[in-house]
Amino acid sequence: MFESFLVTGGAGFIGSHLVRHLASTYPAAKIIVIDALTYAGRWENLGEYANADNVVCIHGDIRDLTMLERVRAEHEPDAIVHLAAESHVDRSIHRPADFVTTNVVGTTNLLELGRQLAEHHTRFRFLHVSTDEVFGPIMTGNAEADTPYQPSSPYAASKAAADHFVRSFATTYNLPVVITNTCNNYGPNQHLEKLIPFMILRARRGETLPIYGDGEQVREWLHVRDHVRAIDCALHRGTIGATYLVGSGDRLTNKQLVIRVCSILDERCGGHHASQMQLTADRPGHDRRYALDSSRIHQELDWHAEIELDAGLRETVAWYLDNAEWMEAARTPDLNAWIATQYGHE
Ligand code: NAD
Ligand code: DAU
Repeated sequence: MFESFLVTGGAGFIGSHLVRHLASTYPAAKIIVIDALTYAGRWENLGEYANADNVVCIHGDIRDLTMLERVRAEHEPDAIVHLAAESHVDRSIHRPADFVTTNVVGTTNLLELGRQLAEHHTRFRFLHVSTDEVFGPIMTGNAEADTPYQPSSPYAASKAAADHFVRSFATTYNLPVVITNTCNNYGPNQHLEKLIPFMILRARRGETLPIYGDGEQVREWLHVRDHVRAIDCALHRGTIGATYLVGSGDRLTNKQLVIRVCSILDERCGGHHASQMQLTADRPGHDRRYALDSSRIHQELDWHAEIELDAGLRETVAWYLDNAEWMEAARTPDLNAWIATQYGHE
């Protein structure tokens, strides 16, 4: 059992669900959250947990070693769960530099912090949250942990570089690390730039629903609460040095997924939202298919995705419809203008 967890990126989508999960599951532990509060991070995502007795929220940037050193000296966490990242592929195509500094340099800063903490805490663990995108397109079968990396976008390349640094610290310094690579997460609190919230927002406004290319790209969809349970399992019971692939098996083309979201919207609000779908220019370097072999985490840690896709999508659509203020605050007009030009939609 860990006494204190340092969670980076805890004001973002997955990080905020993880903080809620850890704070409620381990009430005697301290959760220290570092987040730079970029356009993607808001303490509001933590709800009442932002003010919980066992949660400490620190506004800080993982590129700032002095700040990290201060946090280490004050809190001495015995686990680091690293999620802070620039996470959006389109942004990485638009402006790649932040992806290098946050995802690669920031990760290396945290690994250095981890080295110091591991000297004092025998149970210390560094859990690094990564993505299926590092493997590039998987045209048939499933990606395995030892599938060679072939990242296509600047985002995927920065995550791949970060994964390599994490493994190098395990090999060179014996840092006790665990890596998880997961697929597309969905659920409440996901930023509007991502496919599902973007489609809900635009559908309700009567705008076109831009589908990149032919919309036949396949993605695997996992509910965020299933994902944070997997992180918890891997952190507490995972083998040191192991990589766990965390998927749901729910694979759909983008067109299929958007049609499902539209039909839920039709049931709730009336209308025929799928008629708003419009094929646009394709995303440059757009990977055709991702698919993960999650058998290791099933067998070793007895973790399984539990939230059925239709139920998860219904909950997600309902959350966005009920949280108009959250949606308004998450709008990013600068990126939207670039996206509309890049993909040629109104
Ligand atoms: P997100 O963009 O919603 O949240 C990222 C958080 O990191 C934000 O709160 C942001 O403020 C913070 N952040 C960004 N730069 C920072 C910096 N320099 N210092 C401190 N904090 C900083 O992302 P997410 O979807 O929650 O993804 C979390 C992690 O999971 C990322 O590492 C991402 O690569 C990985 N991941 C996400 C998915 C997915 O489908 N969302 C899938 C696979 C892996
Ligand atoms: O696969 C895991 C990855 O999933 C994570 O590592 C990333 O952090 C996360 O952002 C997500 O990346 P994607 O690029 O898959 O997510 P996004 O929601 O941007 O797009 C999902 C798919 O939908 C992708 O094939 C592109 C397509 N798309 C997206 C948008 C926003 C469209 O066709 N139209 C759109 O308007």
